[in-house]
Formats: sequence, structure tokens, C-alpha cells
Amino acid sequence: MFALTDLPDGFHEDPYPAYEWLRESAPVCWQPDGSVILSRYADLDMIYRDTTRFISDKKAVFGPKFGVGSPLYEHHTTSLVFNDPPLHTRVRNIMVGALNPRALARMEPGLITLVDRLLDDMSGQIEVDLIEAFAGAIPIEVIGNLLGIPRDERGPLRDWSLAILGALEPALGAEQLERGHRAVTDFKLFLRHIIEDRAKHPGDPEVDVLTRLMKTEGAALTEIELYQNCIFILNAGHETTTNLIGNALALLDTHRDKRRALIRSGDLINMGVDEFLRMESPNQFGNRMTTEDIVLHGQKIPAGTDIHLCIGAANRDPRQFEHPNDMQLDRRPNKHLAFAGGPHTCVGLTLARMEGRISVGRFLQRYPDYHLTPGARLRGRVRFRGYARLPAQLT
Ligand code: HEM
Repeated sequence: MFALTDLPDGFHEDPYPAYEWLRESAPVCWQPDGSVILSRYADLDMIYRDTTRFISDKKAVFGPKFGVGSPLYEHHTTSLVFNDPPLHTRVRNIMVGALNPRALARMEPGLITLVDRLLDDMSGQIEVDLIEAFAGAIPIEVIGNLLGIPRDERGPLRDWSLAILGALEPALGAEQLERGHRAVTDFKLFLRHIIEDRAKHPGDPEVDVLTRLMKTEGAALTEIELYQNCIFILNAGHETTTNLIGNALALLDTHRDKRRALIRSGDLINMGVDEFLRMESPNQFGNRMTTEDIVLHGQKIPAGTDIHLCIGAANRDPRQFEHPNDMQLDRRPNKHLAFAGGPHTCVGLTLARMEGRISVGRFLQRYPDYHLTPGARLRGRVRFRGYARLPAQLT
């Protein structure tokens, strides 16, 4: 038996034995609350593509969890990821248009400058926390730039984002819930003056993502959609990307031969990023709900069942990946599900890959002999896998 609300000892440190058990022995694993965990690659791949039988709308789950009409309820039920067509299609098209290749290409030089500045700031220190000094500092700046949030006002964004996403955890305390509600309310107030200011001084809609979100002709966003999806972009691209960078640096601490290969060949990092994403996926679980009765592995899953899709297990399924527990930087094909799949595939995947490539690549060139020191702490979440603290010596 495996229950998300009663995890086995040592799960956070190493969830992969539990995932293997799920995949091999309980591919349909019922939970005490009537929900079900699926963990095989083929099942997740099929479900991500089928938005008719497996929907993303979570009003039925979020109502009792957050309270209908509460700040967290408004946020999570309006954000793109927890919606289905037609709202999903309309909002997604606006977002994909806003995160267009020209807007992203324009960001690359600034990202390199930011990464190099962080690497400079670390030099000479005996020990650094790679999350605080590096992995945690990059995405918030990138998304802050993307939405044009003034640099000196970005301070609270990270904590708000962690509080809002933290409220998605399966087991939730009253204090965590309260922190999440407060974060949504404060975040909306904060965005109000940014959005009002941008309305008075619009940016170039070709490259300014916020202006584009505000100005789309015809199928424009409503005010609530605009606010909640700005918050969503900030959250979606934040802890996930921090985890990509932090998890990669942790993996390369133990895989020294792979580290040397990356340092020797500058290009290998392009494929390496996807192998980090597969091995230690920043998002370990996704969710869907069935709209009709489904039979899977001989078991009936009734309509209206909440399904947990274990991305972390699927990405190590030997039916899909040869030697799934080995890190193969040039793995080909590498159709991992770290960015999900189908119509909800991550909108920010190109940006995330760019951040991973530039951050990890430049870090290795500058500090090829870094090594982790005792004191690493995982954030200890089920849904998002990554470190809260990752101390290291750089030379
Ligand atoms: C390594 C970093 C990232 C990972 C692992 C990741 C992962 C994911 C996953 C798994 C989903 C699908 C959720 C679902 O439908 O169940 C998703 C959706 C999404 N992501 Fe990302 N993401 C990352 C970075 C980003 C960035 C940088 C942005 C934006 C700047 C972003 C924006 C989005 C958006 C807007 C969606 C919703 C797409 C939709 O529902 O149609 N993500 N992401």
C-alpha cells in the first residue's frame, strides 16, 4: 500500500523504490480518499493526450479544499493549467503568443549577464548555498523581466509563489492554507499597480509579455483572468526552474564522469538538460479527473475520479527508457514527461530549457571542481522535487 497522505520513511530522500513498486505492482493504486495514482509511462502519455476523458478542471476538488470563492480557489480555478477548453484554448493561445520566440530570444543576453553576475558574486566564498545564491535567484529574475516587474520590487515574489504552490500539496495544514490565501491576496494587490502603470505606459506588444496579455484583440482576458494568469506564469516558471538547476547540480556532484563530459563538450548540455529533467523531474505529480468510467489494467476507474499522474515514476519506466536509472546525457530518444504532454504541455519549456542550459553550462565552466558539502535539505514536497538548501564548496 502506498498513500500520498502517509508517505513511507525516506520517501523524500529517495522516492524511486516506491515509484518502482507502484509501476510494477500497483499500476492503479487506490488512495484512501478514492483518488488513484497511475505511474506507467504509457498510461500517462495516453491520458495527457486525451482531454475529453481526462479533464484538468479541478473545481470539484478545490471547492472543499480551499473554500469556494476563497483567494486560493479563485486563483487555481482561473489559471490556465486547471482549465479545459474553451477557456483553456483561448487563454493558452494568448500566452503562447506572448511567450513568442522573439520575446525569448531577446532575453538570452540578459540571462547570460545575470548568470555571470551570480557566478562572480560567489567567487571567493568558502561555502555557498547553491539554491540561495544561484538556482533560486535565476528564475525569479527571468520571469520578473518577462513581465517587466521593477527589479527593486521583486523581493516578496518568491515567498508568495512558494506559498501558492505549496497549497497544492495533498496533505495541507491550516497554517499553510492561510499562508496561501494571504499570498494570493497580496500578489493581486501588488500586480494592480504594475498593470495600471502598464496600461498608462504600454510596452512593445511584440516583445513585452504583459502588454501582450493586456492587449490581445478579440479574445482578450477578463480582469480576473489577467491577474490570475500573471500570478500563474510567475509561479509556473519559478520553483520548477529552480529545481531543474538545483537538481542538475546535485546530480552532477555524484556523476563526476558526466560532469567532465559536459565540461569537455559545450554542446552536450543541450541534450543533458532533458536528461536532468527526466532523472529528477521538478514536477513529480500532475492531476486529471475522469469524465467517464475507464478500465485500466483490469480495474474500473469510475467517472469523476481524481487521478494523480506520477511523472517521476513514468520518467523511469523501463518500458519506455533503456536503463532508466542511468544518467545518459545524450539519451535519444528522450521523450520524458517532465513538461507533461498533449494540449497542456508546458508553455514555458523553451524558456526553461534555455535557463537550464545557460545556468548549468556556465556554472560548470566557471566552477568545474565544485562539490557539495553536508547540510543539503530537500524542500520535502510530494509534487515538486527540489532542494531548499544545497551547500557547496566551489573549488
Ligand atoms: C523546468 C521548468 C518547468 C517544468 C518542469 C514545468 C512543468 C510543467 C508541467 C508538467 C506542466 C503541465 C501541467 C499539467 O497540465 O498537468 C506545465 C504547464 C505550464 N507551464 Fe511549465 N514547467 C517549467 C517551466 C515553466 C516556465 C519557465 C513557464 C513560463 C514562463 C511555464 C509556464 C507553464 C504554463 C503557462 C503551463 C500551463 C499550460 C497549459 O495548461 O496549457 N513553465 N509546466
